[in-house]
Amino acid sequence: MRWFFLILAIASITVALAIGPRGEKFSTPPFMLFPDMDNQYKVKAQKPSEFFENGQGARVPVEGTVPFGYAPPKEGVSAAGPLDFSRGDDYLNTGLFGDFYGKGFPGEIKLDETLLARGKERFRISCSPCHGMSGNGAGIVSKYWAIPPTANLVDPRVKSMPEGQIFWTITHGKGLMGPYNGVLSVKDRWAIVAYLRGLQAASGN
Ligand code: HEC
Repeated sequence: MRWFFLILAIASITVALAIGPRGEKFSTPPFMLFPDMDNQYKVKAQKPSEFFENGQGARVPVEGTVPFGYAPPKEGVSAAGPLDFSRGDDYLNTGLFGDFYGKGFPGEIKLDETLLARGKERFRISCSPCHGMSGNGAGIVSKYWAIPPTANLVDPRVKSMPEGQIFWTITHGKGLMGPYNGVLSVKDRWAIVAYLRGLQAASGN
């Protein structure tokens, strides 16, 4: 019986200790048995960070790198500093004249064999899995992922699109097709447009 009272007393104290402080305010963080990743190390916008030596949370891009979504600085135009990446709002960089898709290739792009060869290589890497080697939309992906169907690029509809619109589509994507501005340089995108024109001419559509 003695033992029973002793165990009861210990159990009561344990329960009181565990439940008693509920609702009280503490200055220290609570003890978490299962943290569930509630607390994570991250940098909040405009906040300092202890992780970096100078305590600055917002970082300056590493010299010589281009952040995702930015075009590399144009040739012959030196960037004023590490933050100054030219996005470029001209036809070469956007495929647009003002609010309209442009027709033809920009003057900076030299249409020659080297460009077409580059376009062929890039098209086969980046576009053919979905659009097919010949651009007819019957790439390997279409065999497994048919809804909605991948566009047939040698269709008269796409054939009649201005070059700027195709460039714009590669840059920004469309529907389930993602943007390629972070993967393909401006020149490579134009090279693909040029190669695609070749595929369309060869298709006889
Ligand atoms: C992941 C699969 C995928 C890849 C890779 C892909 N596309 Fe597409 N593309 C699509 C789909 C799906 C559509 C149809 C989108 C829609 O109309 O909603 C499409 C549409 C298009 C269109 C027609 C847009 C229109 O307005 O009808 C063009 C042009 C095009 N893609 C070019 C390209 C080029 C060039 C590449 C390579 C840089 C490429 N795509 C890579 C899936 C892909």
